[in-house]
Amino acid sequence: MCGIVGYIGDKQATPILLKGLRRLEYRGYDSAGIAIMQPDGIFRERSVGKIEKLVGKLQGQTPEGTVGIAHTRWATHGGVTEANAHPHTAADGDLVLAHNGIIENYRELKKELGDVKYKSETDSEVLAHLIASFYEGDLRKAVMKALARVRGTYGLVVMHRKEPEKIIAARLGSPLVIGIGDHEHYIASDPTPMLAYTKRVTFLDDGEVAEVTKDNVQTFNLKDKAITKHIEEIEWNDEQAQKQGFAHFMLKEIFDQPTVFEDAIRGRVEAEEGTAHLGGINLTEKEMRNIKRVMLIACGTASYAAMVGKYAFERLAELPCEVDVASEFRYRDPILDEQTLVFVISQSGETADTLAALREAKRKGAKVRGIINVIGSTIAREAHGGTYIHAGPELAVASTKAYTNMVAILLLYALQFGRLRRVTVATGQRIVNALLAIPEKMQTILKQNDAIEAIADTYTRYQDMLFLGRGVNFPVALEGSLKLKEIAYVHSEAYPGGEMKHGPIALLSEDFPVVAIVTKNQLYDKMRSNIEEIRARKAKTFLIATEGDADIAELANDIIYVPNTMELLEPLLNTIPLQLFAYHMAVKLGKDVDRPRNLAKSVTVE
Ligand code: F6R
Repeated sequence: MCGIVGYIGDKQATPILLKGLRRLEYRGYDSAGIAIMQPDGIFRERSVGKIEKLVGKLQGQTPEGTVGIAHTRWATHGGVTEANAHPHTAADGDLVLAHNGIIENYRELKKELGDVKYKSETDSEVLAHLIASFYEGDLRKAVMKALARVRGTYGLVVMHRKEPEKIIAARLGSPLVIGIGDHEHYIASDPTPMLAYTKRVTFLDDGEVAEVTKDNVQTFNLKDKAITKHIEEIEWNDEQAQKQGFAHFMLKEIFDQPTVFEDAIRGRVEAEEGTAHLGGINLTEKEMRNIKRVMLIACGTASYAAMVGKYAFERLAELPCEVDVASEFRYRDPILDEQTLVFVISQSGETADTLAALREAKRKGAKVRGIINVIGSTIAREAHGGTYIHAGPELAVASTKAYTNMVAILLLYALQFGRLRRVTVATGQRIVNALLAIPEKMQTILKQNDAIEAIADTYTRYQDMLFLGRGVNFPVALEGSLKLKEIAYVHSEAYPGGEMKHGPIALLSEDFPVVAIVTKNQLYDKMRSNIEEIRARKAKTFLIATEGDADIAELANDIIYVPNTMELLEPLLNTIPLQLFAYHMAVKLGKDVDRPRNLAKSVTVE
């Protein structure tokens, strides 16, 4: 969690840092702060609340200076107060530091530091004092000595008044990217703050410390050995990271889906062969045939995408497939071997639980591939291979377009394996053609945005809801329910339709509406019966049904029709009305759609 930005160059740092913080606000938004190197000392301002509060505190002034660091916080140690906001200072304000991560042994270090007057309750301030205690005129050396004493995780930027033309950056477990400009450098937790200025970046690896000046970046490992870093080109552009006229990032990202879906499958499907080619699998055909089991590991929305993937791997490739929530995976003694193929799925590529699961799977000898959105992220780099989902920057905290593209990539992998096993050319061609038709079908659903908004208007009075789906639409129900909880703060549960009568049906009443996905597939009749059972309990129903199914309307208080597609591909379409429903509910209930309370986009703590 938390976002870090740093700038060193010829431009005024404050506007760049504030703009950068806005881009990183999705990582945490309970307080923010900025520190600018000035001739007579380091200027610092901090504020509780979002970046705009900090901007308000600056009262239209732009503290002068061309070197600075800034931070947006998601609290871990210490409450949400201005004193706990970063940057923290030490050495009477000569040293400032912004930190992302957790210093596990901060109590121990505090004891060792002895008589220090702390101004905050944070572990980060202890680190600032530790660095200051080692300072003898060389900030990088002091940082390295301090880090040798630290247990925990960090993404770190540090400045010292006595070395005004330098920022020290360090990383262990919390991402940091350095953007390379013309006589200037940017530092940030992800590339979005620098997209407007440069596309050339280097990603710091764990255990690396960089000394960044206007004209130079020197990187070292913790043993003080210089390291040569590769410069990479980022494909994302600044426009993708803006709202482009939409009221919220979430709405923009929902509407991005047809385009980014095309980006995900472009060049990766072969219509004539009826197959997919994902080079990131990094296996020969023989090795692919040798795989006996697939495991999909992820958190939250990504785990619901994984659940769709399970249906695809089992149906198309006849490969036994398990889905694990990453936070549970390590603690259940999973049985893995080299014939097990593990996919770790993550939008950010930084989720701590998913990363830990990846490392555990590698340790146990499994082949591990990533399905990731953020280029150069830790999971992407630590996996044995894998595929970027090409969803572009996803800045709303609630995930939408990344989910769709994760499902897309899982379908492509399942097809690729399927074609080596049991899927015929003809079936493969049908799947590829159905995939190619998805973007237009998504547009048909997006055109119903106003109708979905009108429906949402009639559900705002309910405190609880039930989401139901069967087969591939059960994960869709889970995803619809999660979206509603996290951004509208409306309690909802999701169940497979057939499970309803084993308990949750007791909840149903006129005050407990049901959102059900009842599209035309092999479970249609069963799902229809479940909806009859709901109607008999007088609960209001909002149905997602297939275009042309006029009959089902008699069971619906509200209905949205989606175009027909192959059953395995249905989640690509059926999730969209539920994303829009949650979005409009949240807006109507006056919630902060893009920055829901207590959440942060990238969960880099366990
Ligand atoms: C829900 C949501 C979260 C994430 C989860 C995993 O809208 O965004 O549930 O899906 O925290 O994040 P990534 O995909 O970055 O690993």
